[in-house]
Amino acid sequence: MKKLLASLFAVALLVGCGTATSEGTPATTETETTTTEASGDAKTYNVGVAIYQFDDNFMTLYRNEIESYFKTLETDAVKYNVTIVDGKNDMAEQSNQIDNFITQGMDVIILNLVQTSSADAIIDKVVGAGIPLVLINREPLGEDGDESYKGILDNPTVCYVGADARQSGTFQGEIIAELPDKGDLNGDGKVSYIMIEGDPENIDAQYRTTYSIKALEEAIAVECLDDQVGNWAQAKGQEITANALSQYGDKIEVVFCNNDAMALGAAAAITAAGRKVGENIYLVGVDALDECQEMVKNGEMTGTVLNDHIGQSHTAVDVAVKALNGEAMDNYYWVDYVKVTK
Ligand code: BGC
Repeated sequence: MKKLLASLFAVALLVGCGTATSEGTPATTETETTTTEASGDAKTYNVGVAIYQFDDNFMTLYRNEIESYFKTLETDAVKYNVTIVDGKNDMAEQSNQIDNFITQGMDVIILNLVQTSSADAIIDKVVGAGIPLVLINREPLGEDGDESYKGILDNPTVCYVGADARQSGTFQGEIIAELPDKGDLNGDGKVSYIMIEGDPENIDAQYRTTYSIKALEEAIAVECLDDQVGNWAQAKGQEITANALSQYGDKIEVVFCNNDAMALGAAAAITAAGRKVGENIYLVGVDALDECQEMVKNGEMTGTVLNDHIGQSHTAVDVAVKALNGEAMDNYYWVDYVKVTK
C-alpha cells in the first residue's frame, strides 16, 4: 500500500503545466494573543499554539475554533491557558516562538508549520524538551508519501492531524466532470483551464493541483493554459486570473483554485472581465468559506470543497488533551473533505 501511494505521489507531481512560480508573502496584521484566564484551585494546563500566519482566511477560522473549543472543555477542575502566536509566514520567527514555548514550559504544543522542510528540527527540539506535539494542516511527507514521516512514526508523542488533500483535489475535478458539458463550454472536446496554486511547498497545494486534473481527465481531455502560484492569497488569485483572462480570453473554460481565498479573488477578476460563472466560465475552490458557500448557492462559483476546520481543530484539541492526560496518541488522524455544489 505504501509503495502504491509512493508511485501515485510521483505520478501526481508530474501532472500540471509546470510553469508555476513563487510569489511574495502576504502582509500580516495581527500579533500574539493569550486567552483563557488561569484560575485559583483548578489544574491549569499551558497550551502553545503556533500558526504559520494569522493573515490566512482558513487558518483564522481554524485557530478561532481551537481557542473556543478549548474553552468548552474547561471545568471547575481543569483550565486551559492557551497562547496562540503568529509565525508571520517566517520559519525563523516560528522557530523562536517554539523556543519560547519550551522556555515557558508549555504542557503541549499544537503546530501549523511555516515550512514542512523544518519539521525535523522542530520535532527534535520539542521532543527533547519532553513536550507532546500535535502537527496540524501542513503535513510533512515521508519517503513513502503519506503516513510515513519518520519524525512522526518514531516519536510516540508527535502526531499529525489533517485532511487528505488528494480527496479535495479529486472532488474539485469531479465537480467539473459532473457538469452536463463536463466543463467543455465551447464544445471543442477538451477543457481549457488555468490553475492557481497555494504555497508550492505545501502538500495540499501539490495534491489539489494534480488530483483535480487527474479526476477531470478521467472524463474528458484537458489543456492547461496557465499554472501560477497565488500563495493562498485572495489578492494574488485576483491578479493571476485578471492577467490570464486578458491573455487567453474566451479560451479559459475553468479556473481551478487550490483554496477559496484565491477563488474569491478569481471571482472578482471574472466579474471585472465581464464573464459570468455558470454561463461562460466555471470556477472551483477548496475550504467552503461561508462567503463561498453563498456564492455556490447564487451560482457565482461552480463549487467548492469543505475543508472541515471544525472537525480538524476539535480533533487536534482532543488529541492534545489526550496527551495532557498521559494517554497514548496515534501517529495520524484524518478528517474527511466534503464536496459542495449548488
Ligand atoms: C487551506 C488553505 C490555507 C492553507 C494553509 C489549506 O488546507 O485550504 O486555505 O491557506 O491550508 O496552510
